[in-house]
Amino acid sequence: MYCNLLQCSHFADTAIAAEHNSELCGFVSGYRLPAQPDTLFIWQVAVAPAARGQGLASQMLQQLLRRHPDVCWLHTSITASNQASWNTFHKLARQLGAPLQTRVMFDSAQHFAGEHDTETLVCIGPLRDTAGTSHSQAEEI
Ligand SMILES: CC(C)(COP(=O)(O)OP(=O)(O)OC[C@H]1O[C@@H](n2cnc3c(N)ncnc32)[C@H](O)[C@@H]1OP(=O)(O)O)[C@@H](O)C(=O)NCCC(=O)NCCS
Repeated sequence: MYCNLLQCSHFADTAIAAEHNSELCGFVSGYRLPAQPDTLFIWQVAVAPAARGQGLASQMLQQLLRRHPDVCWLHTSITASNQASWNTFHKLARQLGAPLQTRVMFDSAQHFAGEHDTETLVCIGPLRDTAGTSHSQAEEI
């Protein structure tokens, strides 16, 4: 809870919440990489079970990017078995027309003593088309 409170206070600008009938049904947290502020790292994406499969995660991610038109790269990390998350970020890359590349970020054995699956870093970008139009402009066209 302390972590979540920091996410939605210090990092409120790069977090987004979705409500339905005053109930929280979606939350995305993130931050700009301190040494690379044109990169938005998505920390957590969570959609309430009843609201899944209706495009909410995709909408929240798109909305965050519209809020930050200067962001050139979107990063996140995903474990191999989280198919819903892979599909969400592959879909986002398709929607943005941007390449998606992966590499190991935190290795199961090396970083988690085997107690957590490997976290694969997913890099989507650059979020600009060949004419230099930003993703937010491209979406409005
Ligand atoms: C991952 C999660 C955020 C997706 O939220 P969502 O609002 O249901 O996602 P969307 O409706 O925007 O769907 C995005 C894409 O993922 C696909 N998808 C969604 N749920 C899926 C599932 N359970 N299995 C396979 N694909 C799935 C959708 O089909 C869609 O792709 P498509 O349009 O090409 O078919 C949600 O399942 C969740 O909260 N999971 C638990 C928490 C979690 O694992 N978060 C990610 C790591 S922090």
